[in-house]
This record gives sequence, structure tokens and C-alpha cells, in this order.
Amino acid sequence: GSLRALAAERDLFIGSAASAQALAQDPKYASVLAREFSMVTPEDAMKWPRIEPQAGQHDWSDADRVVEVARANGQTVYGHALLWYASTPAWLADGSLSDAQIREAVHRHIAEEAGRYRGRIWGWDVVNEPLEADGRLRRTAWSKAMGPDWIADAFRAARAADPHAKLFLNEFGVDGDGAKSDAFYELVRGLVKKGVPIDGVGFQSHVDLTPVPEHRVENLRRFAALGLDVAITEVDVRLILPPTAAKLKKQAEVYRRTLQDCLAVPECVSFTVWGFTDRYSWIPNLQSGAGMACLFDAELVPKPAYAAVAGAL
Ligand code: XIL
Repeated sequence: GSLRALAAERDLFIGSAASAQALAQDPKYASVLAREFSMVTPEDAMKWPRIEPQAGQHDWSDADRVVEVARANGQTVYGHALLWYASTPAWLADGSLSDAQIREAVHRHIAEEAGRYRGRIWGWDVVNEPLEADGRLRRTAWSKAMGPDWIADAFRAARAADPHAKLFLNEFGVDGDGAKSDAFYELVRGLVKKGVPIDGVGFQSHVDLTPVPEHRVENLRRFAALGLDVAITEVDVRLILPPTAAKLKKQAEVYRRTLQDCLAVPECVSFTVWGFTDRYSWIPNLQSGAGMACLFDAELVPKPAYAAVAGAL
């Protein structure tokens, strides 16, 4: 059966990031997405600069399309991302706004976006990538304007805008043990302790063929023990081109292990890949010489990684 049918039996969402353009222009892409995945995350369409390119001027067309197509296919939608430092609108950070105006813009943005899709989004990445590599809180346009409570503030605004959506904090490089994971855990623990409305924690899991993160299951469990869902939100497994049979086999193994670690933790609600086909993956833009990170190749033929994921479900 499809990944989607297999995952349903495990009570797990199997997700993919989806490109609004590809959905509109590539029927084969759209049909594989519909067939294989039970959850869809808009890859870029919901990012702040996309929906509000000029202050007060919205373009919801791509985000609406992804949501409508997913719902027509009986898929659950995961919202990504209300606040991400790397998706700061130019007009917000050009120095023209006062701190009070930035705070006001952040609140209005969360109310508008989470409010527009209220009832149609299962969960939101409220804040994406809050930490620097060394575990310190990242300085962003809004942290400077709003002070250290900006994360708590964003979660409260999201809860008010859509009381039924699950609210997630999403990060990369925190899958296994390590200083950044510990800092992330302390951040999340602090939010829970303060009564901030957070429901879950997302682990991006953009990796390569080097050994999988150590102690991932234990790491996921300590977050779950805070009373939270955990989610694998953005898996891809890049390799250095050209591909060989050995690299594709290794890649399949990394996918399989990642999924197995999620399945080992009852609170792990979803396993989402960051694009399902090498036809549109962001990886070649991220790292020159790297690519072929997805479950399907550029012709939409399943790779060994697909069989590994299906086999683990
Ligand atoms: C990436 C998209 O895949 C690209 O299309 C875009 O140009 C940049 O963003 N972590 C995240 C995602 O949370 O939003 C990023 O997506 C990949 C890294």
C-alpha cells in the first residue's frame, strides 16, 4: 500500500513539504503527493514575506492553494512558520519601524495568518529556529523589539488566533544529544513551566550520510516527558553527487532509522519529509555538490529510501 495507508495503521501522520508552484503546474507531482502522504506542510507559501510582501498588502493565493488541495485530498495541514528569522519581511527590518510598531506587526501577523486558517490547520510552527548553533537565543528583528519574552508572546498570540491548532516550536540540529539539544530542552522546559501554550516540539532532521544522531530516542523522550508531542518535521538525507548504489543504500538506512526512532516514542505524532522528490528539493541550492536527498528521484520513481520507509511503517 501507499505510505499513507501504512502510516494510518501506525496512528502516525506521514507528511511532506509541498511546493505551491509544483502543485499548480505538475499533475504527476500532485498525484504522488495525494497518494502517499496524509499530512502536508506548505514549503514556503506561508512564510511571512510570501503572504505579506509589502506592509498591509497580502497575497494568500499560494497558501490558500496548498490548503485547499490538501483538504480536497483528505490531508491534514501543518502550518509553517509564523515566525522564522530567515523569513523576515524586508519592510519589517529596514529600520523604518519603531519597537512598538514591530511588536504590533508581529501580533497582527499572527492574528491574521493563524486566524485566516483557523480550524484548517492541525498544528503550527509558531517559532522556527529560535537558537544559534551554540544554543544561545538568536537575535531577530522581533527579539530586539519585543525583548526576551517574544517567544512566549508569539505562542499566546497563536493560541488566541486558533485555539484548536497545536502549537509547536521547531528547530534543527537538536535531534540527538549535544549542547544545542540541551539548550533547546531548557528553553522548552522554561516555556512549559511558565504556562506558555506550547503543545509540541519539532525536530527538523536535515541530515547527510554521516552517522545518525546519537541517543535520538532518549532525546525525544525527554521532551515528551514535559507533556508535549514531538514531531519529525523536515527530514531529508542529502548525499554528495554523483549517487552510487552504496550511497542510496546508506541513505535508505538513515531514513529508516529516523522513522524507527519516531515510532519508538508514542508521543511522536508525525514523520514529515522536506519534499518527496529530487525534482524540486531545496538541497542543491543549500549545498553545491549535494542533492538527491528525497524518497523519490527526479522522475518520481521511488528510491531505496522509499522502500525503507514503507518497510519500517
Ligand atoms: C527552505 C525551502 O525549502 C526553500 O524553498 C526556501 O528557499 C528556503 O527555506 N528549515 C526550515 C524550512 O524550517 O523553512 C526551510 O525551507 C529549510 C530549513
